Amino acid sequence: MVFKHDVVIVGAGLAGLRVALELAGKVDVAVISKVYPTRSHSGAAQGGMAAALGNEEADSWEWHMFDTVKGGDYLTDQDVAEILAREAPRAVYELEHLGVPFNRNEKGKIAQRTFGGHTRDFGQKTVKRACYASDHTGRVIMDTLYAESGRRGIKVYPEFYMVDLTRREGAVTGLVACELATGDLHFFHSRVLVLATGGFGRLYQTTSNGHANTGDGAALAYASGIPLEDLEFVQFHPTGIYGLGVLISEAARGEGGVLRNGKGERFMERYAPTIKDLAARDVVSRAIGREIREGRGINGKDYVHLDLTHLGKEVIADKLHEIASFARIYAGIDPAEKPIPVKPTCHYMMGGIPANARGQVLDDKQDPVIGLYAVGECACLSLHGANRLGTNSLLDLIVFGRLAGEHILEELGRRPWLEAPVEPEKAMVEHIRELTGKQKGERVDSVRRSVQSLMMEHCATFRTAEGLGKARSAIQDLKEAYRHVALDNKGTRYNTDLMEALELRGLLDLAEAIALSAELREESRGAHFREDHPDRDDQSWLKHTLVQRTEGVPRVFYKPVTVTRFKPKPREY
Ligand code: FUM
Repeated sequence: MVFKHDVVIVGAGLAGLRVALELAGKVDVAVISKVYPTRSHSGAAQGGMAAALGNEEADSWEWHMFDTVKGGDYLTDQDVAEILAREAPRAVYELEHLGVPFNRNEKGKIAQRTFGGHTRDFGQKTVKRACYASDHTGRVIMDTLYAESGRRGIKVYPEFYMVDLTRREGAVTGLVACELATGDLHFFHSRVLVLATGGFGRLYQTTSNGHANTGDGAALAYASGIPLEDLEFVQFHPTGIYGLGVLISEAARGEGGVLRNGKGERFMERYAPTIKDLAARDVVSRAIGREIREGRGINGKDYVHLDLTHLGKEVIADKLHEIASFARIYAGIDPAEKPIPVKPTCHYMMGGIPANARGQVLDDKQDPVIGLYAVGECACLSLHGANRLGTNSLLDLIVFGRLAGEHILEELGRRPWLEAPVEPEKAMVEHIRELTGKQKGERVDSVRRSVQSLMMEHCATFRTAEGLGKARSAIQDLKEAYRHVALDNKGTRYNTDLMEALELRGLLDLAEAIALSAELREESRGAHFREDHPDRDDQSWLKHTLVQRTEGVPRVFYKPVTVTRFKPKPREY
């Protein structure tokens, strides 16, 4: 079938819904989502949303902007960070007015808590800046925005999986999606397509990301010739439940939890004497890695403890009840009684589809691609630099979701419909026939597990040229293996075998692009730590990486970082 809407948004997480709400009632907007919308990964966000409201103590947007830039190890475009920090209070109040049940302090104002890297007086001391709803902040915002989208009559296509995007003379004209319930391919003809497909943590063996986070939007943009930006910056959250990667919010440390090694030492005192356990995530993740490498894991094993036992049952029940239930369910531990075994887990992609602060996707000449926007984690607004601060993600979705929506409304006024392509599904029909036509071949899950373990071993918190080179050549072999995959399930209804095969194709491209970008960046900055180049090198590397797909080795080029108020300074802890 052909569906026609002025604006089609792919992804029903918070970024996609926020754009949709801006457009609802003004233009014909539809949202398609691979999962049932309320299962989108934004609902898993725990700890909070940053905004300098100053409800608990003095705070200012300039301090928030500074922390965002410093946290990003100065790879952040400062004009974009300024918008984020200035617009943050408005974004929180907007959600409050829609009904989001934020926790309250004793004065009845929105309560705020400390979080990693958020400081007052430009780095002097921690500050309470994260607005929160216990430790299920994303869940309640998600439910509120989804209910609101229903009230405003936004058309949603649940369990539709985007498999291709179509272009005409460079402009984007729509997308092809597979309806999971039937296996039918449909064409969505649009004047504007918005990608809000989230990150791709599923490229790593251990991740806090949901199963759906396979980077479909970024991979399809890349396949269509759009370069991807800053992919080497992959954030590992310090506290994933050992063995599973399920997130234990940084809010646990914000509320006073501490990390301990096998000797019972609070080791962060050595690595970040000023803010200790609340240092930036890359710093804490590497510190845990070092403790483990040097034999100070728990019982010499590859994990450490997150100790909340001194917080007391009441604080845990009131402010950390979700992570307490995760600890009970997944680790069999009551965190009020015993420390939680934790290890860093792949959490967030700082890089993605390059876009400006209005959400317009940028091509290889840095010009907007007509008809295409990207918001949320799949986009790279050059905002989070080399390392995103905790609680800036929910904020990013709401602030830049609104700005993209506003810009789309202006743009639609001057943008006519472009003709639909002829047989837009043809290439995908052939690819699916090829995948389902083979009786024997490589297994999708085995290729996927191989790429996940390669990424974990060579492209995670510690990297070397040698390891990255090995990863790249092994990824080539896996791309070849992909050409021979055969599916067990050859049916049409809910063929998740087929969906995983299509996801894998994109993941392999993303893996190659991450490894190459990381291999070429011969310095250490934020989440990208090269053991063979352990220092930051602003002289040569204060620039964003862009990687573009070609028939052979991807093309890599660079663009400058925008520095406005804060000159890059060496990192202090
Ligand atoms: O630790 C957390 O609650 C994560 C927050 C974030 O990534 O923003």
